[in-house]
Amino acid sequence: MATLVLNASEILTMAGPDGPRAGRDKAALGLLRDGAVLIEGSKILEAGPQAKVMAHPLAKSAKTLSAEGRVVLPGFVDSHTHPVFAAARLDDFSARLSGQSYEDIALRGGGILSTVNGVRGAAESDLTAGLRRRAFDFIASGTTTIEAKSGYGLDLDNELKLLRVLRTANERGPLEIVPTLLAAHAVPPELKGRKDEFVTRVCADMIPRVAAEKLAVFVDLFCERGYFDLGDLEIIAEAGAKAGLKLKVHSEQLSRLGSLPAAVRLGAVSADHLDCVEEEDMAALAASQTVACLVPGSNYFLGKPYPPARRLLDSGAAVALATDYNPGTCPCWDMRMIISIATTQMKLSPAEALVAATINGACAINLQKTHGSLEAGKVADLVCYDAEDHREIAYWFGAPTVRWVMKKGEVVFSAAGRRP
Ligand code: NIG
Ligand code: FE
Repeated sequence: MATLVLNASEILTMAGPDGPRAGRDKAALGLLRDGAVLIEGSKILEAGPQAKVMAHPLAKSAKTLSAEGRVVLPGFVDSHTHPVFAAARLDDFSARLSGQSYEDIALRGGGILSTVNGVRGAAESDLTAGLRRRAFDFIASGTTTIEAKSGYGLDLDNELKLLRVLRTANERGPLEIVPTLLAAHAVPPELKGRKDEFVTRVCADMIPRVAAEKLAVFVDLFCERGYFDLGDLEIIAEAGAKAGLKLKVHSEQLSRLGSLPAAVRLGAVSADHLDCVEEEDMAALAASQTVACLVPGSNYFLGKPYPPARRLLDSGAAVALATDYNPGTCPCWDMRMIISIATTQMKLSPAEALVAATINGACAINLQKTHGSLEAGKVADLVCYDAEDHREIAYWFGAPTVRWVMKKGEVVFSAAGRRP
């Protein structure tokens, strides 16, 4: 039987073209005050003004799901996470609070490599159980799809293990997980000082195997001083393209290497972080199909300046917002927190932030044809918010404000018992 979502104070459809919202459209919510959404199976049959939706032949016999005067919008698409790890990094946290930098902690054996130790020692089943617990937290905060990276294995067997964990969690649902091979996240300890050899292994062994087993859609690398350079970016992008993996790049995070113009030239689907991006690179980004994926939760957590989101938006670039959920730089899975930071600290309007967290997030993982907006034919991923006005999503920060979450047409989370 079809389902009809009715009685919303606002439905944010995000309706529009297949590409990202940018320039004049950067805040285009597709807001309806008398809207409805008709769903059958996992898909949206119709979304729009109530009168139009009610004219659909299946509308009359559909069961009603009332939004009870609240806001309905597409589920958040979190386009950058590192969600498979064995343990929190509390010692790194304490060290940073006493003044050590992220870079210094990594040099002393903390950082990414300490998570690599944990992952290498962990059973696949334990990592899967951990991710499935966390998947529920994503869902309960209104996120219905995430991109998720490997990158804490750094050798063939352990990177495959991480990607299998992602595949299993995705199959079990309800959180949808789009996997990325991030083998070039750091040089593994056994190849210390032999970065080029490691990159050769990534390209010769890992990328072809992962692609053959269909374990990843994207390939990513940490393009940063002391990690991987512009030459590595070219080599990995080429090996990825040959194997059918699209490119994402950790770009200009801690320093400006020139990875943004290179990512644009290489046709990256997204360039992520961009804390150190300069004005002169923005025009090329704006003219390209590459989405700027900003992850300000990591700036918040590390106490670093935020990326120049306003200037990026005003230059015409397409901006997505994501958590970067990981144990080192952003132990937060909640897109509501990211929207709070984006508005209060980076001066995005609530509408710009919501577009960046939904349809532009979908664009940042190449899912814009099926996800990120409430339009006929798209996957029925909807969130009902405990708010009458969408601006409240940015306003009530740190509060449990999700009323219900629908993934692929099924209500998978409900807080109905909480308060009337
Ligand atoms: O996106 N910068 C590289 N990777 C992650 C951090 C990973 C970690 O510290 O464990 C990031 O911030
Ligand atoms: Fe990251």
